[in-house]
Amino acid sequence: MPQLFPEQASSFAPHVDALYGFMIAVTAFFSLLIGTLVVVFAIKFRRRPDHEVATEIHESGVLEIAWTIIPFGIVLVMFFWGASVWFRITRPPADAIEVYVTGKQWMWKIQHADGHREMNELHVPVGRPVRLTMASEDVIHSFFVPAFRLKRDVVPGRFATAWFEATKPGKYHLFCAEFCGTRHSGMIGWVYAMTPPEYQAWLTGGVAGESLAAAGAKRFVEHACNTCHGDQPGARGPSLTGIFGKPVRIQGGQVAMVDEAYIRESIVNPQAKLVEGYPPIMPTFQGLISEEGLLQLTAYIKSLSPATAPGAAPIPAAAAAERKPAKP
Ligand code: CUA
Repeated sequence: MPQLFPEQASSFAPHVDALYGFMIAVTAFFSLLIGTLVVVFAIKFRRRPDHEVATEIHESGVLEIAWTIIPFGIVLVMFFWGASVWFRITRPPADAIEVYVTGKQWMWKIQHADGHREMNELHVPVGRPVRLTMASEDVIHSFFVPAFRLKRDVVPGRFATAWFEATKPGKYHLFCAEFCGTRHSGMIGWVYAMTPPEYQAWLTGGVAGESLAAAGAKRFVEHACNTCHGDQPGARGPSLTGIFGKPVRIQGGQVAMVDEAYIRESIVNPQAKLVEGYPPIMPTFQGLISEEGLLQLTAYIKSLSPATAPGAAPIPAAAAAERKPAKP
């Protein structure tokens, strides 16, 4: 039997479906009600003798208030319900597994933090939140897993984030949901949701390459980032140790949050949010580093801030100075 809906295989799939069901029910109810009334009234109140003159009818206050208040209440329910589902699907839990996704014509490249790489396949454990940081090398793609009710556009020039928690072991279709060229329809793959023991076996079985942070550490030296951001005394650029997930004072007296998007922007457009007290001397790396490289650098800079949970105690300067810059 053909299925009307894909199966519900993520923690927020039932919430999305419930809201969707409610909106369809409301829409169907009012479509039927209004459609039926149009036909009934057209017949019932048609002009019978040709010379009949309409009687003047004055408005009914009660009726008008009722048809204003009731729909207003219904759309408010949709708004607050929708907002609560939206908050749920846009805020990843702090303990999520990190996965990095690069979309390019016409494939999904997936990198796990420990160095596992996959092509058009994503292996995840059930019962654990997974956070995706995504970038595009070329045009707009869209990461779409119907069974998880997960769809996020991946726009070139910025990172997109999304998260999900698979609830049922299985193999689920992964699509690109944005027309991205001749072989867009071939930009598909599978998400494998595995039980934790199976996932462990998969992790230890595969050949893990260099971890993302280690690859980022190499690029950090390659692009000579360390000459200014190497924690030396009197360095020309601010230290990057322990900054992730914390606010930073930028020029103009404002405060920026150091997240993936901020790091990316600071690499490709360093003058956009200059850290207070530093001159605008950093050159742009726009076009010099691939999206994959930007993801690796971001992973490396994140690895310099081990406790990234909000509210974590800042690392004391002395301890930070002793820490090795690379933590592979
Ligand atoms: Cu990528 Cu369609």
